[in-house]
Parts: sequence; C-alpha cells; structure tokens
Amino acid sequence: MSAEGLHSGRLRRIVLIGFRGAGKSTLAAALARRLHWPLYATDRLIEQRSGLPIAQIVARYGWPRFRALEREIVGSLPEAAPCIVDCGGGVVESAENLPRLQKNALVVWVDAPEPVLLERLAGQPSGRPLLSESDLRTDLQQNYRRRLPLYRALSHLRVDTAKQSVEACCETILKHLEQS
Ligand code: S3P
Repeated sequence: MSAEGLHSGRLRRIVLIGFRGAGKSTLAAALARRLHWPLYATDRLIEQRSGLPIAQIVARYGWPRFRALEREIVGSLPEAAPCIVDCGGGVVESAENLPRLQKNALVVWVDAPEPVLLERLAGQPSGRPLLSESDLRTDLQQNYRRRLPLYRALSHLRVDTAKQSVEACCETILKHLEQS
C-alpha cells in the first residue's frame, strides 16, 4: 500500500502501546519511514528533558518520578498533526494518559506471547530497570498480566510481532488507518 491518501482520514496519529520487548520502537521507525511522519518516542523525550538515561532516573528518583515525567511528555505531544508516537510500556499506568493518547489516534497494541517477550528481554542488555519484582520472569509475568486489560481497552488494533514480520505489521496498521 502507498502512503498516498492516508492524510485524508479522520485520524492523524498512530500511537503504539504494549509491553517491553514487543517491538514498538522497530515498528514505529518503520511506520515513520513509510509514511514520512515525525516520530515521537516518549522514552527518548523523557531522557532528553531530564538529561539522564531512564535507568538513572529510576535509580535516583524512583518510578513515581519517572511516571510523572512520562505524563508531562504525553501531555506535550502534538495531538492534531500526523505523527507516530512510540510509548514506553508503562504509559497505561497513568489514567490521565489514556484519553490523551486516544485523541485523533489509531492506537495499536504491539504484542507478543509472554515466552517470546521473556526470551527477547533476557537476550538484551539490561538497560531497562525491573518494574516491581527482583527477577525478570516474575517481573514480566506480574506486570504484563496486570497491564493486559489496559492495553486491550485502550487499543483499536493488536498486532503480534511473533507471528508477523515488521513489514506485515506495517501493512495491517496502514490498512486500518486508511479505513478509519
Ligand atoms: C517501561 C518500559 C520502558 C520504559 C521504562 C518503563 C515499563 O519502555 O518506559 O523502562 O513500565 O514497562 P519500553 O516499553 O520502550 O521498553
């Protein structure tokens, strides 16, 4: 599908949500390239604003401070202009983010089965601080399962990156965008 005509739809943003390791950033970059739309990654914006990597924000000030920064960033995102928004996995933890993210947006839940997420996260260098538990498997299990209903409720569409390639996920998303 070409990007032509996609600007005419009612929705003008694509917002990607989903757990760590699901592949949001890869997909966001592919969509931004494909549509020539600007990309806003909440984690990068938080790091830019605070001048610290996420792991250090959390180590020094704790998760509540990180979530407050995340809310500030979500509140500052463009709402009417076409763009791709790549959200950190915990963006659904703050209730006030939800209506903001849904505004003028196709919200896509980027997902993969739990064992796949575990394998991906275990295989990556540990830049991500654990959320609430002291080992990765339990941390993933507890937080992923708790967030599932939130991802489900907020999203218009789910793509499974274990089943579909990045290209195929892009196609699915662009088709929905065109129809919306
Ligand atoms: C978080 C996910 C991270 C980052 C922070 C918190 C979470 O983003 O925002 O470490 O609560 O799941 P990614 O989903 O891009 O890894």
